[in-house]
Amino acid sequence: MPLRKLVAGNWKMHGLSSDLDEIRAIAARAREYPNVDVALCVPATLIDRAARAAPGFPIGGQDVHFAEKGAFTGCASAFMLRDAGASLTIVGHSERREAQRESDADVRAKAEAALSARLDVILCVGESLEVRDRGGAVETVIAQLGKSLPQELLSGAELAVAYEPIWAIGTGKIPTNAEIAEMHGAIRGDLIDRYGPDGREIRILYGGSVNPSNAAEIFSVADVDGALVGGASLEAADFIPIVAAAAS
Ligand code: PGA
Repeated sequence: MPLRKLVAGNWKMHGLSSDLDEIRAIAARAREYPNVDVALCVPATLIDRAARAAPGFPIGGQDVHFAEKGAFTGCASAFMLRDAGASLTIVGHSERREAQRESDADVRAKAEAALSARLDVILCVGESLEVRDRGGAVETVIAQLGKSLPQELLSGAELAVAYEPIWAIGTGKIPTNAEIAEMHGAIRGDLIDRYGPDGREIRILYGGSVNPSNAAEIFSVADVDGALVGGASLEAADFIPIVAAAAS
């Protein structure tokens, strides 16, 4: 049985009060596709207002600190995100792994903290172009997963994995269907090895230059259970056709 698809938008550092109407529009149009889960991960500053603007529509954060509270200037905890109205969060995005030097161990701690706070988690992994070119993509991603997946799954919150080749993010380049199938198959195998039958239920999203023209083809690949969408999630006009592709 294919898993129900999840299409999550990653707004990155985009979004002001003036964008709340777009969030309302996306939430309203997403309701036309009840067989797909849709969410938007917005900047922390917008979570509260986005959640109020679109009641019942899942709003997420893009990162959490692993601690519940404390002397961590500039950070927000999973409880704070929940308190602001988030129901999910991204952890381990490559832009944070690179620019903020987040390690696999940090990502694991963040994922565990978020799940404990009953936030659903989208945990990102992906290889650089250099690694892909030398034939080490699968090995690298599986090693990343081994060190960044939570030790155990908790009931009350859901884990998803997003495979996001770094070289495909924001570039318009995407892997071939065969490359996506190979990677998602390997991730599925690893999830089952680690979590047993529960590993079959964890959604594996593809991310990196998903747009309305390539979404249907990407969703047709085995073990692609949804998408994490950056640039094409900022406007309903681009994002909703991707949701529609996931629905059909
Ligand atoms: P993109 O970003 O869709 O703009 O390539 C995806 C992501 O970074 O999550």
